[in-house]
Amino acid sequence: MADQSKMFPRVRSGIPGYDEMVDGGFHKGTVNTITGASGTGKTVFASQFIYYGVKNNEKGMIITPSETSDFLKREMMSSFGWDFSLLEKEGKLVIVDVTDPVLRLQKSIEADPVEFLINFRKLVERKLQEVRPARLFIDDLTAFFIAVEGPFKVRSLVDDLFGTLRSSGVTSVITIGTAFGMNQFLEYGADSATMLSRDRIGNVLIRSIYIMKMRGSKIANSIRVLDISDEGMAVSSLSPYP
Ligand SMILES: Nc1ncnc2c1ncn2[C@@H]1O[C@H](COP(=O)(O)OP(=O)(O)OP(=O)(O)O)[C@@H](O)[C@H]1O
Ligand SMILES: [Mg+2]
Repeated sequence: MADQSKMFPRVRSGIPGYDEMVDGGFHKGTVNTITGASGTGKTVFASQFIYYGVKNNEKGMIITPSETSDFLKREMMSSFGWDFSLLEKEGKLVIVDVTDPVLRLQKSIEADPVEFLINFRKLVERKLQEVRPARLFIDDLTAFFIAVEGPFKVRSLVDDLFGTLRSSGVTSVITIGTAFGMNQFLEYGADSATMLSRDRIGNVLIRSIYIMKMRGSKIANSIRVLDISDEGMAVSSLSPYP
């Protein structure tokens, strides 16, 4: 049998316990979505993926479409002491803030959503060529797609964007909110989809994680407990339900 690990290299997520659920990590050069309701840990997951990569000499890029980059930096610093500003200064991380007025990509109700997404894709393509990161994190893409009318248009815009990401060779983690019902389109187009939630069990809220799909990989068939602490995020070997 061919050596699969050489033919299909894996990229370690940096989340303890996660890679074991997906037979070794993300496939290199793929698009991977992290879906969950607000506060389930999507941004933490993806930030840890980037932080782990940078610590292992893999250049990172973060694109923040919905929140400004300052907000994300502050969240990671106060939650875990991860100094993204420093990593940026050291040239190990590039953060692209699309709400930056210089990029003139800010969302507005007057802007045509399809045109906006086409411009966004071009911006991402240009930045990937310029920076050549090994790891990419796009925070909450959902907001861009809600204004697009018609599932066919959404599908083809998702395909275009994900195609651009794949052809650059970068390994991407994209977070997706569930509030607007757009998540299925993005998950459908992705190479893997991971679901996060926070559920009430008795009087306690427990974080959990499961893998919805990973193309070309074995996946765990169980739901696991997800922990967030001062050290970051980790997948437990426990299941949340008896
Ligand atoms: N040091 C810590 N220890 C424990 N929990 C923490 C710590 N730092 C942050 N958290 C928790 O982790 C969660 C972080 O969630 P995160 O920002 O990743 O959610 P999200 O899914 O991106 O939400 P949204 O859709 O609102 O962006 C918060 O609810 C926060 O309370
Ligand atoms: Mg978030």
